[in-house]
Amino acid sequence: MAAAPTTPPTMRAVQYDAYGGGAAGLKHVEVPVPSPKKNELLLKLEAAAINPVDWKIQQGLLRPLLPRKFPFIPVTDVAAVVVAVGSGVTRFQAGDHVVAMLNSLYGGGLAEYAVASESLTVKRPPEVSAAEGAGLPVAAGTALQALRAIGAKFDGTGKPLNVLITAASGGVGLYTVQLARLAGLHVTATCGARNMELVRRPGADEVLDYKTPEGASLKSPSGKKYDGVVHCTVGICWSTFEPVLSDSGKVIDLTPGFSAVLRWALQRLSFSRKQLMPMLVSLTKEDLEFLVGLHKDGKLKTLIDSRFALSDVTKAWERSMEGHATGKIIVEM
Ligand SMILES: NC(=O)c1ccc[n+]([C@@H]2O[C@H](COP(=O)([O-])OP(=O)(O)OC[C@H]3O[C@@H](n4cnc5c(N)ncnc54)[C@H](OP(=O)(O)O)[C@@H]3O)[C@@H](O)[C@H]2O)c1
Repeated sequence: MAAAPTTPPTMRAVQYDAYGGGAAGLKHVEVPVPSPKKNELLLKLEAAAINPVDWKIQQGLLRPLLPRKFPFIPVTDVAAVVVAVGSGVTRFQAGDHVVAMLNSLYGGGLAEYAVASESLTVKRPPEVSAAEGAGLPVAAGTALQALRAIGAKFDGTGKPLNVLITAASGGVGLYTVQLARLAGLHVTATCGARNMELVRRPGADEVLDYKTPEGASLKSPSGKKYDGVVHCTVGICWSTFEPVLSDSGKVIDLTPGFSAVLRWALQRLSFSRKQLMPMLVSLTKEDLEFLVGLHKDGKLKTLIDSRFALSDVTKAWERSMEGHATGKIIVEM
């Protein structure tokens, strides 16, 4: 269907038209406002969050699957107001405030308008700001899925597992710390010295500075073995994880390389109880509703590293590529 009558025919957007190039490869353009299909919503974007996967796709990490085609408007995590709905949409109407994860194949988040599938859009209550809501889909969705893979339960029926969270100061890590505490887990976290207090505040019981020998060893100061690790960084070998895991401890690897996938396959073939498990987030509407609900109730917070206007998006892109964000990097439209 066509956009609402008040919607302009064109919009500001930021896109790239080839692999590589980093922030310098981003171009400010004026392009047609997209039209929602039957089960889609047209959104006027308020905020978008940059995730490392956004610039990794630009680098060619998922070549040739993503981007589906060039030019490509990157970024999937948005908060927005609904301006028009497709004929098959039943849960939303114009004027609703929402949080959505856009289709990874087509992106679209660095723009004034975007189309979202109804199936990955949820209402945003007034208690959750647009910037906070935009932070949630990929980062908090990954945290939730990784903790569930370790055995965390959020209904009070789970075991009090010991969990290690690496890079706990990052976008995924800070949500993971909070969700792990909500699930009643004992949390050990790694981060840089400057962020130790910040990571302790939302719920880490023990914090290790990753640049010290103790931090690099991943050993819990209280001697606990980990039932699960949510591994949010790179460059740590299995030989470092193995001695700090409990008998059936699992490492959920969020940035698996080829060797991690190979190790996972071999461990499965050998029925190894300790396991390295590669994970790719697969968000559901129910998960997003759960996360927005926790945020509304004040049980989950989005820590915002920095905010940028769309006109300044190259700075946001560079900030994410540097790898030193503390929480989420937000672009406001
Ligand atoms: N598999 C999936 O579905 C999935 C989903 C989401 C994210 N990911 C991946 O997960 C990783 C984390 O994502 P993110 O959004 O949390 O990234 P991020 O926000 O960019 O993480 C930055 C943080 O990581 C910290 N850090 C970097 N190296 C560290 C180390 N060796 N030990 C401890 N802390 C370290 C930095 O602290 P300092 O500034 O002190 O160095 C910084 O605070 C990325 O590689 C991302 O691509 C995967």
